[in-house]
Amino acid sequence: MTASNERTVIRGGLVVTAAEEIHADVLIEGERVAALAAHGSAAARAWQAEHEIDATDCYVVPGGVDAHTHMELPFGGTSASDTFETGTRAAAFGGTTTIVDFAVQGVGHSLREGLDAWHAKAEGKCAIDYAFHMIMSDVTQDVLKEMDVLVEEGVTSFKLFMAYPGVFYSDDGRILRAMQRSAANGGLIMMHAENGIAIDVLVEQALAAGHTDPRYHGEVRRELLEAEATHRAIQLARVAGAPLYVVHVSAEQAVNELAQARDLGLNVFGETCPQYLFLSTDNLAEPDFEGAKYVCSTPLRPKEHQAALWRALRTNDLSVVSTDHCPFCFVGQKELGRGDFSKIPNGLPGVENRMDLLHQAVLDGHLSRRRWIELACATPARMFGLYPRKGTIAPGADADIVVFDPHDRYTMSAATHHMNVDYSAYEGRQVTGRARTVLSRGTTVVDRGRYLGRAGHGAYLPRSTSQYLI
Ligand code: URP
Ligand code: ZN
Ligand code: ZN
Repeated sequence: MTASNERTVIRGGLVVTAAEEIHADVLIEGERVAALAAHGSAAARAWQAEHEIDATDCYVVPGGVDAHTHMELPFGGTSASDTFETGTRAAAFGGTTTIVDFAVQGVGHSLREGLDAWHAKAEGKCAIDYAFHMIMSDVTQDVLKEMDVLVEEGVTSFKLFMAYPGVFYSDDGRILRAMQRSAANGGLIMMHAENGIAIDVLVEQALAAGHTDPRYHGEVRRELLEAEATHRAIQLARVAGAPLYVVHVSAEQAVNELAQARDLGLNVFGETCPQYLFLSTDNLAEPDFEGAKYVCSTPLRPKEHQAALWRALRTNDLSVVSTDHCPFCFVGQKELGRGDFSKIPNGLPGVENRMDLLHQAVLDGHLSRRRWIELACATPARMFGLYPRKGTIAPGADADIVVFDPHDRYTMSAATHHMNVDYSAYEGRQVTGRARTVLSRGTTVVDRGRYLGRAGHGAYLPRSTSQYLI
């Protein structure tokens, strides 16, 4: 629906952005927001449009920006089960209209080869707009030079791993060099902060002791090893004079490291994910290998950590909630680790669930409505150089808009979700609030549970450098 110059008016809703809540109608011209005006005002009444959307009793919010997804990621001898086509369609159903996925540099290969491969996977497939970060697995002198080129062309953030020796792992020297380069070229280093060398010792010892069940994944990936790596990453970033963004923070002790750094005024930012806020080691301990469904890294933590995460989301010591969407089917994929938890592919599905779970957090008193939008839309857009095109509703912004019904109560389930994965990490969980109508650049892609979009509507987004320094 909606051709390039057509007009759409969304009437009667409460517009919620990170900055304000206003009872306003929204005028869209073509792909962009043209104006906002008070309900019933002369200006709003004068608008003539081809399409009218009634948002009475609903919120009108920016489309979600999920800054951490892994469609089709090869991992542990298999690949994440959502393609760019299925994963972005599921994202749209969940009210997310932009993803930033991770292109991967293979060891011995250039960044360019990795980026080209990810462009080939995504091009013509996406239901919503998409951009790329770059995973660096092999930091050589040539690769450092390539970073400058990528920043220039709009891939402005680079993920490094202190975990997964032999796969993605970088040692401290390589990390420092990449950070120094990003300090000079404006890129943002994203860190997977876990001490992978120490974890591998504990994995070996656990398996030797016959501890093969999924719950040992959580036990060997110790909280202290997340905190230690977080501390080390922060100090390396200080030495390099570079900003730092720590991904998928799950342990209270790691949050404390971030809080201390931020209290010193350092440009250090933290992200957490719904799974760490709503799930725990209790899930990892589910019997009959069901715990494998919850194997991801950093791992789920004991419930007690959740209070620290919610607090940090309120104080801004954690400033983004992304999904780290990296689905593997239980049958045939998670099952690769029966008898050896270290062979369970790491990752959870969630790209469809994030906006609704965070709205539930508003109802549960953890967050304000504006903070919900700040964490899920505005800050990720700013952090990764997409604001104000994405992440807000304002004249000139892309008309990525969700009419969100805050009263729609439903039960999350694999039977009804749209992600290409045979289980839901939130099976049976009741939430209140759901995206009713989703627009991507002025085009309705989802309406009342019906998919109206198409593969290839989603456009690639070159990004500017981070707009979110302290
Ligand atoms: O378990 C996870 N998080 N899988 C995806 C890869 C990563 O480290 O983000
Ligand atoms: Zn990671
Ligand atoms: Zn990830």
